[in-house]
Amino acid sequence: MVHLGLDIGYGQTKLAWSSNYAQPVAEVHPSGAAPIERCDRMAGGQVGDTALGYGEEVIVGNRRFGSLIDPDRIQNGMQVLHQDYAGTPEYMALYYGALARVGSNVIDHLVTGLPVAQCKDKERARYVKSLLLGRHNVREGFSVSVNQVTIVPQAVGAYYAFQDRRIAAQPQHDTLLVVDFGHFSVDWVLISGRSFRDSSSNSCAQGGSYVIDRMVSLIKAKHGIAVGRERIYGYVREGLKAVHLGTEEVDLHAIGHAAAAEVAPTVVGQIRASLRDQSTDVNRVLLCGGSTPFFEAAMRDAFPKAVYELAPMPVLANAIGFRLFAKKSG
Ligand SMILES: Nc1ncnc2c1ncn2[C@@H]1O[C@H](COP(=O)(O)OP(=O)(O)OP(=O)(O)O)[C@@H](O)[C@H]1O
Ligand SMILES: [Mg+2]
Repeated sequence: MVHLGLDIGYGQTKLAWSSNYAQPVAEVHPSGAAPIERCDRMAGGQVGDTALGYGEEVIVGNRRFGSLIDPDRIQNGMQVLHQDYAGTPEYMALYYGALARVGSNVIDHLVTGLPVAQCKDKERARYVKSLLLGRHNVREGFSVSVNQVTIVPQAVGAYYAFQDRRIAAQPQHDTLLVVDFGHFSVDWVLISGRSFRDSSSNSCAQGGSYVIDRMVSLIKAKHGIAVGRERIYGYVREGLKAVHLGTEEVDLHAIGHAAAAEVAPTVVGQIRASLRDQSTDVNRVLLCGGSTPFFEAAMRDAFPKAVYELAPMPVLANAIGFRLFAKKSG
């Protein structure tokens, strides 16, 4: 039996899978996907050499795509940061890239997430499920049958992973807020006792990329240099604290901090506002997603009485939880 937890984010694609009793495997890849002619070749590649040399090459609707590649390597960048991402060929290319990574011809159960706001739209969730289910020709000579698909709200994966580790003494008595600070979106779910509170769970489109855009403006204002958002995103992913750009030394750490201090309170304000109908205060907060470092301070200011749990692998938490869920439910 092959169980796959898949979290296709706007910034990164995370996957966790296991096969029978083998140790689970988890991977993080950049969410870059584009028709192959727009993907840069590796430096030193032969003229006419079509192999990417990185990422995965897949076929979507008779067209060859590069998948799981750094968006900085795509000419003209990625152009699909919008609500209907899940319906685009780029999304399918990332999906096929993930299936290629797993390498099995059969996936017994796939669990994946949609932004919380989209998940409330049952029609939409059904549509995405229909795209993922069934037999897929991933590339020449390799096809995969996906036999069962479950779609859950994005941040719920981290909750499953959290429950599995039983960090909390009595989670059944908690009013738990799970927040997934992603690249493009922030998703949150409120879990009171063991029930999900739909009215206090939602998404907003101001994740890490919002902070990165602010960093771009601050660098321009302070150093007089234009640096693309994809480039800054690459530096953040590499964990660079500072970088030399021409004659300037740019303190990325300080600029990231300043950008977050400016924009994070507004984002966290939206989360607080969505909880205003709850009579019981949030007493535990679980944070996950790659942009957590940008938003944690604003969260602690907004919910000072709560106990904080940071998912041990914040970027992978959803995918890991999705796989656990896939495995538990067969
Ligand atoms: N060390 C890091 N590695 C990767 N991303 C990081 C790191 N530190 C901060 N980030 C930020 O985390 C974000 C990516 O996080 P994540 O992978 O959780 O997002 P995503 O799931 O792709 O996005 P979304 O949930 O909006 O679809 C980026 O905006 C990036 O700026
Ligand atoms: Mg995400």
